[in-house]
Amino acid sequence: MTAAAAGTAALSFWMLDSAPYPYAQRWLLSLPLPLLSQGRLDSMLELRHGERVLEVGPGTGLQALQTAPQLGPDGRLDIVDIQQEMLDHVMSRAERRGLTNIVPTQADAQHLPFENSVFDAAYLVTALGEIPQPEVTLTELKRVVKPTGRIVVGEFFDRHQVRRATLARHANAVGLHVNRLIGPPFSYYAQLAPCRPGGSGGR
Ligand SMILES: C[S@@+](CC[C@H](N)C(=O)[O-])C[C@H]1O[C@@H](n2cnc3c(N)ncnc32)[C@H](O)[C@@H]1O
Repeated sequence: MTAAAAGTAALSFWMLDSAPYPYAQRWLLSLPLPLLSQGRLDSMLELRHGERVLEVGPGTGLQALQTAPQLGPDGRLDIVDIQQEMLDHVMSRAERRGLTNIVPTQADAQHLPFENSVFDAAYLVTALGEIPQPEVTLTELKRVVKPTGRIVVGEFFDRHQVRRATLARHANAVGLHVNRLIGPPFSYYAQLAPCRPGGSGGR
């Protein structure tokens, strides 16, 4: 990606004020954001073959199409988006690539239609800030991810960015804490883990 393309993407993201992110502007979602790379996401998710993983707000599949192959044929990536058009877009790209382990569900992240503790990991990239009640979303993620699982939030400097201190506050409010953090404040990944009963420590 050229510096000019990265600059255009960054500026356009910052200017866009609508939530959820408009499908009509989907072309921008195919531009990787500076420092919010798949490699960094992978290092936070620590994926293993056979795992069941949840992505909230996949957009057009920038992360999903690279995450699903890492789970292998026995693993599964559930993608949840409030916009059916986004899910259809990811699924048609997945089909063209021969990926068969992605399962789409249209839902609001504030009401996830899954049983408790069914996922090994969950992530959302530049999506949390678009959701009206981030604490409700984090509560839902904590509920559907196994207590030993990983929850990863990626955020980028746009109008909807959840800043690191705000994320830490939301996380603490629902019994999670920031376990690991990579990247500068304007483009970071945070791995969240449940607080220990009676303390703020990790697992
Ligand atoms: C900026 S896009 C990010 C897409 C992708 N993760 C990326 O980095 O390219 C945010 C996504 O979150 C979805 N979204 C927004 N609010 C949501 C909600 N309440 N529940 C589920 N998905 C939501 C949008 O439809 C959109 O696909």
